[in-house]
Amino acid sequence: MDPVIPEPKDAGAFADPGCLTKSPPCVMVIFGASGDLARRKLLPALYNLDYDNLLPEGFTIVGFARTDKDDDTFRNEIREAVERSDESMPISDVVWTRFARRLRYFTGSYDSPESYSSLQRFLTECEACSSCRNRLCYLALPPSAAEQVLLNMQKAHIAASDGIGLRIMMEKPFGLDLAGAQRLNTLLAGMFDESQIYRVDHYLGKDTIRNILLFRFANAIFEPLWNSKYIDNVQITAAEQIGVEGRGAYYEEAGVVRDMVQNHVLATLALIAMEPPVAGDSESIRNKKTEVFQSLMPLMPSDVEFGQYEGYRDEKNVCPKSCTPTFVAFKLALNNWRWYGVPFYIRAGKALATKVTEVAIQFKSIPLCVIDDPAMCRRVQPNVLHIHLQPDEGIRLSFSVKVPGRNDEVTTANLDFHYTQFGIKMPNAYERIILDCLCGVPTLFWRADEVEAAWKAIEPLLAGPCEEDHRKFPNYAPGSWGPECADGLLRRDARYWQPV
Ligand code: BG6
Repeated sequence: MDPVIPEPKDAGAFADPGCLTKSPPCVMVIFGASGDLARRKLLPALYNLDYDNLLPEGFTIVGFARTDKDDDTFRNEIREAVERSDESMPISDVVWTRFARRLRYFTGSYDSPESYSSLQRFLTECEACSSCRNRLCYLALPPSAAEQVLLNMQKAHIAASDGIGLRIMMEKPFGLDLAGAQRLNTLLAGMFDESQIYRVDHYLGKDTIRNILLFRFANAIFEPLWNSKYIDNVQITAAEQIGVEGRGAYYEEAGVVRDMVQNHVLATLALIAMEPPVAGDSESIRNKKTEVFQSLMPLMPSDVEFGQYEGYRDEKNVCPKSCTPTFVAFKLALNNWRWYGVPFYIRAGKALATKVTEVAIQFKSIPLCVIDDPAMCRRVQPNVLHIHLQPDEGIRLSFSVKVPGRNDEVTTANLDFHYTQFGIKMPNAYERIILDCLCGVPTLFWRADEVEAAWKAIEPLLAGPCEEDHRKFPNYAPGSWGPECADGLLRRDARYWQPV
């Protein structure tokens, strides 16, 4: 018999546990296997893991969804999805044959208890066939469905099988609000130990996001400046060029705040703003991230601007009078010594000018310009550290320099680092998080208290746009940088969005 999946061993954020060279054998059941996330992200990521020889013999993937189909139909659909995905490794006959053998399909209804009893029998059979004593349940479902699925899993003892190593991965958004997250946490706590629960945020699987910790705490030169004495403001941009792409039903429930802000954006903010952890283990890191959310000051309605792109209301499964925001820009403040008085400006949205996720840290202006010429002094720009999380991953620090020549001409130059210089393809985030879960490395998954603190901090945003905003929707053209009021948010503070 193969060993059960290891207990979390707290490899910490920087360690690369040995298990990442081959995951333990496991039966992985994906609830929501016909959904967009499973096809576009999860199954291509699993194929890539197999391509890299990281899935052991006996690793089985069971797709659970409503549509009635057999294993072969499911396999053909997944092959198409893998072929279509631009993040997938090429299809190789040898790998595909091996991967296809791992794929099984189980037709079930999310609300029928009988489906879960049959699934439990099916999983037990799969485990017996593959001599596998590990089970991973992945809930790739909208938050409104998650609670019912967990309750049915509980009734059918899917998460209580004797002698089986169990883990659960819960896709974001985790709940639809604080109360929903609390209900899910209570339910999960009755079924699993916290160490078996992996609340997924795929941004935390991205190398550039992981690098924020390393960049901050493995370099002595930045940390002394990382505070209100030297930093004027911090900006986080999470812009997407695509619209909702056929996910109208989900997006109507989520909107930009639940889809991007409560999870991806706040996770990034926490890594930028957290205090140094006392050690590199998961709990120390997660404690410090949680403190960031706890120190966020209540959001002021006047510091929030919402937007909806033209054409959103014509998307499939979107209400023709929808008031769901597809864009939000807001200002946050942290009530702690490090950040007191430093505004954090955040913007996230769909159908924008370009796809870019970036953190811009703008340093304070110099106290006094000693160049004689006032015109030259006006050209001295504050230093900005741009952390490009995607695409064109890298880090750029801008500074003022003298232009060569007799005059004291001033211009801005850059120290510019690009990840391309490693000559290594950026790893896929879902591959990393699946492996981390299998290997028991919980550092960059949300902990129960952390996710609740994040919901609490942004609850005022959940009310969405006010009546007046509704009337202005849609208020930005696809391909723009969002509504004009998003610029106004910074202009009021005599600032502007850093060009990305
Ligand atoms: C997902 C959201 O979590 O992240 C999507 O549900 C969004 O709406 C996606 O498009 C963005 O992820 P990435 O990795 O493409 O930046």
